Amino acid sequence: MSTLVVLGTQWGDEGKGKVVDYLAEQADYIVRYQGGNNAGHTLIYENKPFALHLVPSGILFPKKYCLIGNGVVVDPKALKEEIAFLNKKKISVRGRFFISEQAHIILPYHKLIDGILEEGNVKIGTTKKGIGPCYSDKVKRIGIRVVDYLEKNVFLDLLDKNLIEKTPILENGGINIEKLKKEILKDHKELSKFIKPFVADTSLMIEGAIKKNKKVLFESAQGTLLDLDFGTYPYVTSSNPTAGGACPGAGLGPTEINNVLGVVKAYTTRVGEGPFAVELFDKMGDFLREKGGEYGATTGRPRRCGWFDAVVVRHSVRVSGIKHLILTKLDCMEDIKTIKICVAYKYKGRIYKDFPSSRTVQKYAKPVYEEMLGFKGKIKGVTSFKKLPLNAQKYVKRLEQLVGAPIDLISLGRKREETVEVTKNAKWF
Ligand code: IMP
Repeated sequence: MSTLVVLGTQWGDEGKGKVVDYLAEQADYIVRYQGGNNAGHTLIYENKPFALHLVPSGILFPKKYCLIGNGVVVDPKALKEEIAFLNKKKISVRGRFFISEQAHIILPYHKLIDGILEEGNVKIGTTKKGIGPCYSDKVKRIGIRVVDYLEKNVFLDLLDKNLIEKTPILENGGINIEKLKKEILKDHKELSKFIKPFVADTSLMIEGAIKKNKKVLFESAQGTLLDLDFGTYPYVTSSNPTAGGACPGAGLGPTEINNVLGVVKAYTTRVGEGPFAVELFDKMGDFLREKGGEYGATTGRPRRCGWFDAVVVRHSVRVSGIKHLILTKLDCMEDIKTIKICVAYKYKGRIYKDFPSSRTVQKYAKPVYEEMLGFKGKIKGVTSFKKLPLNAQKYVKRLEQLVGAPIDLISLGRKREETVEVTKNAKWF
């Protein structure tokens, strides 16, 4: 097996950055297939945490190829800053970092529109990075791709058409179009030169890698419940983080995907607006937020926290065909007396074992909990599954049962070595 999709099974922030970093050691190529710099993957490098937003986490390994697939939306300014940041840390990206020529470009008007829409009557709680407006343009067939950005005349023509189309909303928001256009043209001169050496047909590169039996890891941003189709619509991001998204998002067929690995946090968090049945508004919610450092890597917003929601994760396992799971942040549940797990939802007397599509049910359903005894004893620093407190082992096994996929690995901290095998010598590639 040589290809693997890694995705988040909840609302993002499951700890994919660390997991991808851990797995990247075994991979040759690491490919992002959706989202943009709305994502934030916190990693540890030289004992210090730092966040990557666009460049795949595998970049920390000097010999790995890191690709941004066509399904990603790229803010060239943010990319330049991120690469400058990596260079400062002496992590070179030249010759091993590539962007698909078909990826769509985020321009300043996307970010402005994102902000204006957030002030309107449907507040999603977006990251305001211009993600939704950029994907909207792609779907409306007026988007500007990387390849278009590099062809000056094509770019100028598309820019004019886009500015005309967006004038009403921008002017309503108090934006001066002429000034905005000047800024975009000035940036374009500098940024098109900057990105040019990184641009490639990444779908062809992936095909070449697979033919040579290289190991290719497809990394999703966000999580299943933020998926445009399978998430808590409309409180979602504007792309498909589910495993299927890797095919149109990176340019390969489903028969080329060998394995799907889900990352799942030992409890649940979400950022932004939208339904969240297991949300805790009490001291336990605060405890999880503080213990887990649950503040957004991109926006710094405090995350909403709740108990483990098996309805959500079962749904994720199903819609992405997840074969294996990696559990993160179990160490953050030390010292809790009684732990709850949501096993179903209840609304107007009806029990929902499968994740409901109705926004009303998603919003008003109450969680049906089962309780377990908390873990006494230290979890942080434990080096094998058998050395975990018995109740922690029981919790892990119960989660597996409820969600329908085995937990192969448990992460007990941000560092690579803070990882415990449940399945001995598990092979995902
Ligand atoms: P957008 O992706 O900026 O349009 O935001 C849409 C929704 O997805 C909002 O609720 C965001 O908080 C959420 N979101 C986007 N990216 C992430 C992420 O990386 N982690 C968690 N939530 C995210």
